[in-house]
Amino acid sequence: MPDYKLVIEGGRELRGETFVSGGKNTSLAVVPATLLAEGPCLIENLPDIEDIRVLMQILRHLGAGVTWQAQQNQMQVDPCQVSGDTVPFRLSQRMRASYYLMGALLGRYGYARVGYPGGCNLGSRPIDQHLKGFRALGASIREEAGMIVLEGKLKGANINFDMVTVGGTINVMLAACRAEGDSVLTNCAREPHIVDTANFLNRIGAHIRGAGTDTIRIRGVNKLRGASYTVIPDQIETGTLMIAAAATRGQVTLRGCIPTHMEALTAKLLEMGVLVTSQDDIINVQLRQGHRAIRLSTQEYPGFPTDLQQPMSALLTRAVGTSEVIENIFDARFKHLDEMRKMGAKSVINGKIAYIEGVPELHGAPVYAPDLRGGAALVIAGLMANGITEIYRADTIARGYEHLESKLNALGALIRREKISNGNGNADGF
Ligand code: EPZ
Repeated sequence: MPDYKLVIEGGRELRGETFVSGGKNTSLAVVPATLLAEGPCLIENLPDIEDIRVLMQILRHLGAGVTWQAQQNQMQVDPCQVSGDTVPFRLSQRMRASYYLMGALLGRYGYARVGYPGGCNLGSRPIDQHLKGFRALGASIREEAGMIVLEGKLKGANINFDMVTVGGTINVMLAACRAEGDSVLTNCAREPHIVDTANFLNRIGAHIRGAGTDTIRIRGVNKLRGASYTVIPDQIETGTLMIAAAATRGQVTLRGCIPTHMEALTAKLLEMGVLVTSQDDIINVQLRQGHRAIRLSTQEYPGFPTDLQQPMSALLTRAVGTSEVIENIFDARFKHLDEMRKMGAKSVINGKIAYIEGVPELHGAPVYAPDLRGGAALVIAGLMANGITEIYRADTIARGYEHLESKLNALGALIRREKISNGNGNADGF
């Protein structure tokens, strides 16, 4: 991982057009799902991000034949060559979505040994609902030297999730589609990437109905074939770019997106006084003057996404009035606000509520990216600020956004990567 910081010369409007990349969180589910097939799969529109490269290493470690063409955003996976059943901790801890290897390997081979997942530190992120689902399908689960070992011939079951979980819904769906008999999953998450993963699985021969509602019905099949599939555009990248456009009081057209996935964000932007229009796969965002403070509460889809709470709160630092932001999904997703205070932003955090008092201007400062979306929020703050903002630990942003700096620079931003001289990824004092 290169040690670099992002250096942003703020105060420039974003103007022009850009394309939205393929969905990170959908890709991170669809690629592991290829292991369930018994023939090669070609997955297109994958974002060229660090998490995809880590996933590729995991698949190769398992023996799968993998060809990744970053320029074409496509990956060919031949699962027929898989010879391993273990995802070591050194790989699993590099990303959250490594948990999908549990569902995929268990569904396909009836056995998996997978290290605990990593990912952004957003507070406690248990996977008990994933394991509950696998157990209900008949898997025995034990821990061996810090590895989760899952084993068993799976049979369809009725599973009610104790809470709405994106990862849990997808993981149990992966395992259940090759179980013997029918499964009914209730209290499911309804995010667009759940529908996309189900669409991919159905394309390779699974029988899944109801994805996108809170009840998913799965008829297990004993064989899945290879196929090609194009993943949907990234809902969170779309939202991040929409917010960045408004934050710089610019005018940006986003192409290749799905406006219906953006309704919760669009409603909030309109409430703030941002002009948002859409047609087919195009969204236009424009802000001419100041914007108003709002009240915002994160919810599961179709509510306001937690992943956009951080970029949105960057925009709120300069709203007229005091905004109230309630984070209902994760218990430690306000660390970016501590960093923004160094840039002149005003906020008070009380448990899961942040009160953000808008200020007339932000100033550049050295800050560090606490996590992926928190890093994106700091990029937006840096675009708004007067002077130079330096974002340390910026590699965390490249885990989930495809070429974010070049996309923003093409719209008029001035962002560059600079190598960090002390070589340990941290600036003095961080
Ligand atoms: C997925 O994380 C995404 N990650 C996250 O994306 C996203 O923030 C999150 O869903 C919510 O939309 C990937 O898709 C790889 P959850 P996940 O299971 O699956 C609790 C990003 O920036 N829970 O829906 O970990 C959990 O603690 C990120 O792209 C349990 O208690 O989220 C949380 O409070 C970060 N037990 C809530 O449920 C479980 O077994 C929702 O978590 C599972 C979850």
